Amino acid sequence: MIRPILIHPDPRLKKLCEPVAEVTADMGRLAEDMLETMYAAPGIGLAAPQIGVIKRVIVMDCVKGEDEAPRPLVMFNPEITWSSEDLSTYEEGCLSIPDQYAEVQRPAEVRVRWTGLDGKPQEEQFAGLWATCVQHEIDHLNGKLFIDYLGLMRRQMITRKMEKLKRERARQE
Ligand code: NI
Repeated sequence: MIRPILIHPDPRLKKLCEPVAEVTADMGRLAEDMLETMYAAPGIGLAAPQIGVIKRVIVMDCVKGEDEAPRPLVMFNPEITWSSEDLSTYEEGCLSIPDQYAEVQRPAEVRVRWTGLDGKPQEEQFAGLWATCVQHEIDHLNGKLFIDYLGLMRRQMITRKMEKLKRERARQE
């Protein structure tokens, strides 16, 4: 089921999310809905608070090519266990901040440990777009958005644009 995506500013996007105690069938359904919502958007990553669920769950698929097989990843309680000293800069966007993009500098590679859909621990090292995406999504679980890396003026400008967008959308409903 496709769920509505919250648009910044929203207090639910600023919350510290709770760990998932157990990967139950409900959690499996949540992850399925998140993947469906992400692919439909379309986007390459989504965190549970973006659909109003204040839990530590993210989904991603950074496969770009149309002829490449999709690689949906579901992570419960993801944790960064190592970050490279090397940094890389990507132009980031966010489904909760539509049509706004800005360059953000982050560690170029990270190692992440998480619990999978099967309830088992997994660990993997990510580079390139995957590394940026997983860090962006984990930030969401700590109430942090990519615009929080920008200067105050830029952040306020984007926030005002989003407030306007929300007012326009509310009027259309
Ligand atoms: Ni985002």
